[in-house]
Amino acid sequence: MQKNTYYITTPIYYPSDKLHIGHSYTTVAADTIARYKRLKGYDVMFLTGTDEHGQKIQRKAEEKGVTPQEYVDEIVASIKELWKLMKITNDKFIRTTDDYHVKTVQKIFKKLYDQGDIYKSEYEGWYCTPCESFWTKTQLVDGKCPDCGREVELTKEESYFFRLSKYQDRLIKYIEENPDFIQPVSRQNEMLNNFLRPGLEDLCVSRTTFNWGVPVTFDEGHVVYVWIDALSNYITALGYMSEDDSDYKKYWPADVHLVGKEIVRFHTIIWPAMLMALGEPLPKQVFGHGWLLLEGGKMSKSKGNVVDPVILVNKYGLDAIRYFLLREVPFGSDGVFSNEALINRINSDLANDLGNLVSRTVAMIEKYFGGTVPKERVSGDFDDDLKRTVIETPGKVEELLDKLQFSSALTEIWKTISRTNKYIDETMPWVLAKDESNKARLAAVLYNLAESIRVVSILIQPFMPETPAKIWEQLGINDSDALAWESAKEWGRYPENARVKKGDAIFPRIDLKKELEELEKMTIQPDESKTADKKESKPAPDNDNKEQAKPQEKDGFITIDDFAKLDLRVAKVLEAEKVEGTDKLLKLKLEVGNEIRQVVSGIAKYYSPEDLKGKHVILVANLKPVKLRGIESQGMILAASDDKDLAVLTLDKAMESGVKVS
Ligand code: MSP
Repeated sequence: MQKNTYYITTPIYYPSDKLHIGHSYTTVAADTIARYKRLKGYDVMFLTGTDEHGQKIQRKAEEKGVTPQEYVDEIVASIKELWKLMKITNDKFIRTTDDYHVKTVQKIFKKLYDQGDIYKSEYEGWYCTPCESFWTKTQLVDGKCPDCGREVELTKEESYFFRLSKYQDRLIKYIEENPDFIQPVSRQNEMLNNFLRPGLEDLCVSRTTFNWGVPVTFDEGHVVYVWIDALSNYITALGYMSEDDSDYKKYWPADVHLVGKEIVRFHTIIWPAMLMALGEPLPKQVFGHGWLLLEGGKMSKSKGNVVDPVILVNKYGLDAIRYFLLREVPFGSDGVFSNEALINRINSDLANDLGNLVSRTVAMIEKYFGGTVPKERVSGDFDDDLKRTVIETPGKVEELLDKLQFSSALTEIWKTISRTNKYIDETMPWVLAKDESNKARLAAVLYNLAESIRVVSILIQPFMPETPAKIWEQLGINDSDALAWESAKEWGRYPENARVKKGDAIFPRIDLKKELEELEKMTIQPDESKTADKKESKPAPDNDNKEQAKPQEKDGFITIDDFAKLDLRVAKVLEAEKVEGTDKLLKLKLEVGNEIRQVVSGIAKYYSPEDLKGKHVILVANLKPVKLRGIESQGMILAASDDKDLAVLTLDKAMESGVKVS
């Protein structure tokens, strides 16, 4: 029998910066659904990739003195590493610089031109380079980009236009007739009321002021607008318009495009209009999820506040991070990310609720029965309620996952875990164990506990790639029938002869206070860092390993390669303010080329905020972000200091922010 297919995509990521935990959000969510559908027996196609063209990338590469291709190659490699670390199970990874993609985008553009959906004219308007978006004058807010609030550039050039306006009525009708197409519903109303009903203008779809893009085959000097190029990835990856389009035939239309709320507009207006023009079916759903924010605001690469997923995964473990991302905030709403909230979740939900349940159950089976639950069992009070709760859970989880309600699905699983923990309190196995005549009842209680955990371990698989196997090892289950997704719906599949084996705590508890102090200690302030340096440069008195010390440690020199590890940049101070509760720290908002960075600096005793505004300072841009007084500091500015005074390093000639210091 042919399997049902399921096609899910993430947006393709801009490789202009390191990805932050917010980016991992979309990918982890998509991966969870892909894993779930595979467990349900679907033939899944899960696509992710990178969106590598555009003026922004070209400029960044120029700044770095490398070709755009070299620039993207390096970042794309690190993105692929990140997905490996996060155990993302994408079936394909598309790069918009891949040959096959470029060729198909050219064919799409030509087809639309030949049939009159693309025409040549002149464009005049405002362009926001960081967002790669065109705006009309009326759309600007205070003369700035309405999406990110930054400067826009007036652009006038000969361009090709896509007849977006022609599709306006069909789009409205389609959205009205297909209420599932744009989810959540609030985003559907936003698209209809804010964009579609007021009227669509034709879209400028080529550029001539830069060349890092897909060349228009029939007009030299024009490159395809990056969103037309990027959106096409969802079908070029499947071989659309190529010799082998079997995947396209098999998987298109997509079941769901998962996207952040700020790009819903591109996916529900431009993309469907392109598909209508091509005569192809539309995706079944576009789901616009909310943003993960830091207390200070958006965590995007454009606005700073980056939280490094690699550090988080290495520090707290992959499953804890994936769990937190999907549990903490309902998918669709915005939510706040904080280390404190993360650690609290790990301690309460993972270490306490799930971890303890497993370790207590395994310990009791070992203690009372030497590791295997006997077959003679007597049922008793509370069993029925436990069984009912457990057995009803898989259906609820499926229903919620089908609607991409990750947080509620996890809540259902955790209700079962709580119910099971309560069952231990109700049945009190340690009391039963005191009386030999209760042995059969005790066996039933422990079997029921192991069985509930079996069901839970199956249901958490889509969310957590590592924990289920750890549980199965401790519970002694290796029979694949007892681990199949569908078996979670049947009570009593925990194998009769399974032998439990106590192991390490699956989620060790974290000392919240100590951990937060440690994060705080990662603080580097100009005057403190000096003392720290002094301490470290003193050789340890009992260092018997001196011969192996690196040359620079021995003679006090560093090599030019060591120095090159520092990414020093000119940064312009846009804003400065005192950090409440301390007389030492200033919070600075810095412009570093196209980026905005937030830096907390220990210079408040020597500079007032007004002194610094507008100054060009030197930023150590690749310093690991730390939190100071709960505020993220993304780098450090250089200053000279002696016992009495401190002077911030500035430039003696005007230079643009973002310029490299070497
Ligand atoms: N390249 C475009 C997408 C083209 S798709 C044809 C793009 N790339 S992006 O790298 O800026 O963003 C990729 C995804 O990450 C988007 O869905 C975006 O919403 C998501 N996120 C980026 N920052 C985020 C948070 N802070 N929180 C949640 N998701 C966020 O847009």
